[in-house]
Amino acid sequence: MTKSVEEVRAEIPFLRTGIIYLDNAATTPTPQPVLDAMLQYFCEYSANVGRGVYSAAKRATVKFETTREKIAKVINAKPEEIAYTKNTTEAINIVAQGLKLRKGDKVVTTVLEHHSNLLPWQRLERQGVELELVPVSRECLIDPAAIEAAIDDKTRIVTTHHVSNVVGSIQPVEEICKLAQERGALSLVDAAQSVGHIPLEVRKLGCDFLVAPGHKGLLGPQGTGFLYAHEDLLAGFEPLLVGGGVVKQVEEHKYDLIKPPQIFDAGTPNIPGIIGLGRACEYVLEIDIKRIAERERKLTEQMLRIVDIEHIEVYGPHNVEQRGGVVSFNINGLGHHEVASMLEELAQIAVRSGHQCAQPAMRHLGVDGIVRASLHYYNLEQEIERFIATLEQIAREFGS
Ligand code: ALA
Repeated sequence: MTKSVEEVRAEIPFLRTGIIYLDNAATTPTPQPVLDAMLQYFCEYSANVGRGVYSAAKRATVKFETTREKIAKVINAKPEEIAYTKNTTEAINIVAQGLKLRKGDKVVTTVLEHHSNLLPWQRLERQGVELELVPVSRECLIDPAAIEAAIDDKTRIVTTHHVSNVVGSIQPVEEICKLAQERGALSLVDAAQSVGHIPLEVRKLGCDFLVAPGHKGLLGPQGTGFLYAHEDLLAGFEPLLVGGGVVKQVEEHKYDLIKPPQIFDAGTPNIPGIIGLGRACEYVLEIDIKRIAERERKLTEQMLRIVDIEHIEVYGPHNVEQRGGVVSFNINGLGHHEVASMLEELAQIAVRSGHQCAQPAMRHLGVDGIVRASLHYYNLEQEIERFIATLEQIAREFGS
């Protein structure tokens, strides 16, 4: 069973506005079955989780917990290895704080990371942890040899993105995780732009941690994400939040917490969001992630025709095999926000412009911002044609 592009489009209400939505790397529109799952929670069993013994509360708890199984299925992990988070940023912060790194420890990452995979480590740098940012090639590809050279005996973790949110380059994370493991370091893969877009299996990648949002490739609701941690790696971690719902025993001046992964659910969690995420995982599996990847590759190839437009500079690899569904560029003579505004005014096309939450990456590219068009399965060939034609017009009239 699969879902055709037309079926998926018909199930995404936001597309009925007529928008050509090419900002899927920022967030994706929510399909009706995911909205229905959340609405059903609100209308039929809108109770808190892990607390009440009445039937609506029990139903909410079961539905909430079942999402772990569904996420695990997407990345080939075990449900008990999945912690819920509100986004990728929270997941990385949990790891950065949980490892209890000290002066004398080292973290290896790259200059191409999203701020979410940089600031949590920079905060540790302020406390004396060494942080090395490995350079990347002009095309924004990570050379595993450069990672290998940066890993030393002090290195506790190597943390890199899988697919760049800046230019879409696909990184050799399997090789990077293996290098980390060989030197006794942990590895974290930021799968924000790959989960749901390309098939991935944590055991094949060989990573210790994998972090991802629910609201991008997985087509889930905003405010959801997850942290995968290999087997009992989270056992010694202090959660960022403590409070209700995560305790075994509380006395006047001490507490004893439950075990991971539920230990990260202090307070009332995002119950409708996590239930929606569970349905979203099923939804992308129904489409088939392999098919999503194939389609995005085809659309990316089509989009890369902008390489030949005069006055346009496209960043990242020009070879479609080395990139996900993200194409970034500038038009000489125009600002990135100007180009994005014109795309909307002329053709109702939505793209992201600016530094893409990756200022060191902008310095690497020698620009202060870029225009980024990003895809999902439901985008149409005709939409890409419209995008290319509109860019040709803008570049012809205003490029220099
Ligand atoms: N991380 C999202 C992006 O790159 C918001 O646009």
